[in-house]
Order: sequence, then structure tokens, then C-alpha cells
Amino acid sequence: MSNCACKTWLKYAALGLATLAVIGGMIGYDRGFREYPQPDWVTATPDMRFKYGSIGAEQDSGIPYWIFYVLPRVFPEKFKEDGKVVPGGYAALGVPWEMGQELPVGFTKKTIGFARVANNCAVCHTTSYRVSPDANPVFVVGGPGHTTNVQAFFRLLIDCAKDPRFNADILMAEINRVTALDWIDKLLYRFLIIPITKKRLLEREAQFAWLYRPDFPEWGRGRDDGMNLTRYFMIKAPMDDYFGPADMPAVWNLKKYDPAKGSRPNYAADTHDVHSVVIDSALGVLGAPPKNNARFLEQVDWLKTYLSELQPPSYPFPLDQARVASGKALFATHCASCHASDKTGTGLPLADVGTDRGRLDTWNKGAAIKANQVVKEMGIQRKGLVEEDLPGYHIPFLDGLWLRAPYLHNGSVPTLRELLEPAAKRPKVFWRGYDVYDQKNVGFVTNTPEAQRVGTKFDTASKGSGNQGHEFGTGLSASEKDALVEYMKTL
Ligand code: HEC
Ligand code: HEC
Repeated sequence: MSNCACKTWLKYAALGLATLAVIGGMIGYDRGFREYPQPDWVTATPDMRFKYGSIGAEQDSGIPYWIFYVLPRVFPEKFKEDGKVVPGGYAALGVPWEMGQELPVGFTKKTIGFARVANNCAVCHTTSYRVSPDANPVFVVGGPGHTTNVQAFFRLLIDCAKDPRFNADILMAEINRVTALDWIDKLLYRFLIIPITKKRLLEREAQFAWLYRPDFPEWGRGRDDGMNLTRYFMIKAPMDDYFGPADMPAVWNLKKYDPAKGSRPNYAADTHDVHSVVIDSALGVLGAPPKNNARFLEQVDWLKTYLSELQPPSYPFPLDQARVASGKALFATHCASCHASDKTGTGLPLADVGTDRGRLDTWNKGAAIKANQVVKEMGIQRKGLVEEDLPGYHIPFLDGLWLRAPYLHNGSVPTLRELLEPAAKRPKVFWRGYDVYDQKNVGFVTNTPEAQRVGTKFDTASKGSGNQGHEFGTGLSASEKDALVEYMKTL
């Protein structure tokens, strides 16, 4: 190349770059960062807002929409639970999915420059049940997300990002098959969005290391090791052997927690009040400090008010009123001193109930102090996590109990009727996350071939999953137990 030709080339290149920089600056804001409100249908009712409304997670934890869209096409073999690959894309992870909706419940779509998909509370706090194997599901907001496999979802994203096929050539080819992006979006996706998404996901890998430990059991459907999520993400604790898989709780009727009476949310009454737990949960979903604290706290207030008033649905099947009446008397004698008294919602020493201690040991005073510090440094005021070593699990309020199976904090007992058997006689292995309702035993069907095909296997001998303890009422006669169960359907 002659000297002169080279100079000309350089001049064009410089001109080209300068032009690109100007255009880039103009479109960069619009296509990279400009926020557009979600469509009106999302906020049309409070329930829709809870299910599909953005809480701000698209900013830092969002997956670009078209990447989210093509992942099941590029990586079908990674959509799996318990090592078994199930066809059906995201539906295979058990997420609640309403008919006619583009995205599952708890998945939000919002445009910040480009369309992004993130999560909100509803992915873990919406439940579903079916009357029979050929019935359609009924979705109930605020109920425990007993079908969702959170661990499989977390792993899926990391596994995809680690795969060499997560690259611009392969993803763009698949995206071009389903949509016609304009040239700006094509460039953005190819050179920025895909590489940055890959990098961001891989950055999380180290914090997610405990999700891959071969010595820990799968969480399975409907469980979440939430205190470890907080330890490894929020306070960046080094990895240790604690493991606290917890059943997704119901989050309706939160006004039941009264700080004046000492009743506190979270399984070990770890947090002072509902305001604090909503803040901490939302920070967890955002995965980063909020960009705007005032807007963030507005969301928190909305969620708190909505969930405080939200009521669980009544038992939808027939009731035997005579049995309900005798069950009520039994409940008053054997259970009410804990479950319908001033002690409800307060922590009980573990020795008094004797259930699995994994979840309790996964959190402690030091972790609470650190987490409170992190939130304070974000400039957010709240009473926060209780800076004490806690004695045991709180005595749960039993509202909407019929729809909260499986039972106990680790979801280790499939049905109410089985909870009334001594631990040695409770099922040792069962399948959870299948949503056909069992009216007789009160819970979900856990052992039919269909339940085994759809659900994940739960082994009570595995770490954090013991079904021992809480042997209250186990000495009653069979007919008394049936009556007690009949009464508990009405709570
Ligand atoms: C990834 C699943 C997941 C998401 C998303 C999630 N939660 Fe939770 N939530 C849990 C689990 C698991 C617990 C139980 C924690 C424990 O004590 O171990 C919990 C506990 C709670 C509690 C305490 C309930 C009680 O009665 O003790 C409230 C309230 C709550 N979450 C609200 C929210 C809100 C509001 C959001 C959204 C901002 C949210 N959660 C997002 C899984 C989730
Ligand atoms: C001494 C207090 C005490 C008594 C008495 C007691 N419970 Fe409990 N109950 C607890 C505690 C604490 C837990 C939480 C244990 C855990 O999750 O590890 C619990 C949990 C439960 C749960 C699980 C709730 C859920 O959503 O998973 C049910 C159901 C229940 N109790 C029913 C009963 C019945 C029925 C009786 C009477 C026969 C009874 N309890 C008596 C303290 C008590």
C-alpha cells in the first residue's frame, strides 16, 4: 500500500468514526437507555400489576428480550430439572403461565432502550392448583410458588452464557428467524447487547457456585435457598457448608404481622417488619442498588399495601360441616395455644418443635449486621434484619393453609393429613411441584406416575430436607385427625 493511499484510507476511517460517534450519541440514548412505560393492561388491575408489573429489575438483571426469546431454541437441552430435560422451554421450569400470556407470571417486559425481560415477586409468590389431571390450572396471586424451579432457572442462564454457542453469530441467526430488527438494533445486538449479556451472566458465576455443589441436594420445585442468596449476593460472604432450602411462603394478608406483639416475617422471624422484608426482597430481585431510591420506595409501598390487604381464597371444594365443628374443638385444645394466640408469628426455640435446623443455621447475627449495613449504605431507611442469633422457627399464621402444601418451612411433609402422623410414618420420598389437588389429605398429589413425571423428587434424608419434628396432634385417633384436617381447610 502506498503512503498516500494509506493516508486517504485513514481519513475516511476517521471521518467514518466521527460520524458514527455523532449518530451513536444520538441514538445511543434512545436505543440504549430511554425508558418506556409498560402497556396499560399491565397496570389495569392490582393483580395484573403484581403478576406482570416491573419493579425495576430490568435495569441490572434484565435479559434482552430477543435473547430470552431464542434461548430455548438454541439450548433446548439446558431446559432441565433434576437432570431430566423436559421439552417446552421456560414452561418446563414449572413457572406459572396463564393462557394467552406471552410471558409466564412473574416475568416482566419493559423497554429501556431495548425490550428487556426481568422478574418480579410473583414468580415465587403465585401458586396454581388443578381440580383434576385434565383440568386447567387456577392461579392464585400471593400463594407459594410451589411449581417454580428457581434453581433450574438460575443455572440455566449461567449454563447458556458459559456455552461457546452463546455468541453473536448463532444468536443473531436465530433472532433473525423470528423478527426483523432494524439495522441499529442489529448492530446493537451483535456488538453490544449479546457480548455484554454474556459477560454479565458470567460475572455472576462465582456467586452462584453453591448452586452446583454435588454434595447439596437439588432445591427442587417450590423451594429457594433464600438466605444463602442473600449471603452470597448481598453481603458477599465466602462459601461455606450451610444450606437452608426453604419452601416458598404465601405472602397474602401481611397485615397479620404486628411488630407490637412481636410477630415477625420470614421463617425464623429474621426481620423486624413487613416493610423491611419487602425492601430486602425487592433488592434481591433488582440484584443491584436502585437507580432512584424514591421510585424504588414507591414500589415497595405499593407492594406492602397490596400484600397487606390481599386475602387468600376460601377452600373451593365441599366441606363436611359436622366434621369442621369437631375439628375446631380439637384445634382449640391442641393447636390454638401456638397457632391462634399472641405467640403466633413469634420465634419458638427449635427444641420445642424439633424440625430440620438447616435453614435456621444458614443465617446469623453477623450476617444480619452486614446486610443492614449494605442497605443503609444505599441510603435506604428500614428497621431491617434482627441483629440477634435467633432461637428457632416462627409459629406460622395458618391463613390460606389449604393452598400452602407441602408443609413445614422446608416443604418436607406433602399433606396436612400426613403432618398429623408421627415423623417415622410420614412419606420419606415424594414428588413435588405437580399441581393436581388432593382434597382428602389436603395438599397436592405427590406419588402418581404423572406427579413423578412433572414434579421433582424430594428425599427427606437429604441435607436440609428432614421431615422430623412438629409431632403435635399425632396421638389423636384417625377420625379425630380427619376432623382436624377438615377444620384446617377453613382457615
Ligand atoms: C426467587 C424467589 C422469590 C422471589 C422472587 C421473591 N421471594 Fe419473597 N420469599 C421467598 C422465600 C423462599 C421466602 C422465605 C424466606 C425464608 O424465611 O427463608 C420469602 C419470604 C418473603 C416474605 C415473608 C413471608 C412470611 O410470612 O414470612 C415476604 C413478605 C416476601 N417474601 C415478599 C416478597 C416480595 C414483596 C417480593 C418481590 C419484591 C419477593 N418476596 C420476591 C422467595 C422469593
Ligand atoms: C408449641 C407450639 C406449636 C403447637 C402446639 C403446634 N404447632 Fe404447628 N407449628 C409450630 C411451629 C414452630 C411451626 C413451624 C415449624 C417449621 O416450619 O419448621 C409449625 C408449623 C405448622 C404447620 C405448617 C404450616 C405451613 O404452612 O407449612 C401446620 C400445618 C401446623 N403447624 C399445624 C398444627 C396443628 C394442626 C397443631 C395442633 C395439632 C399444631 N400445629 C400445634 C408450632 C406449634
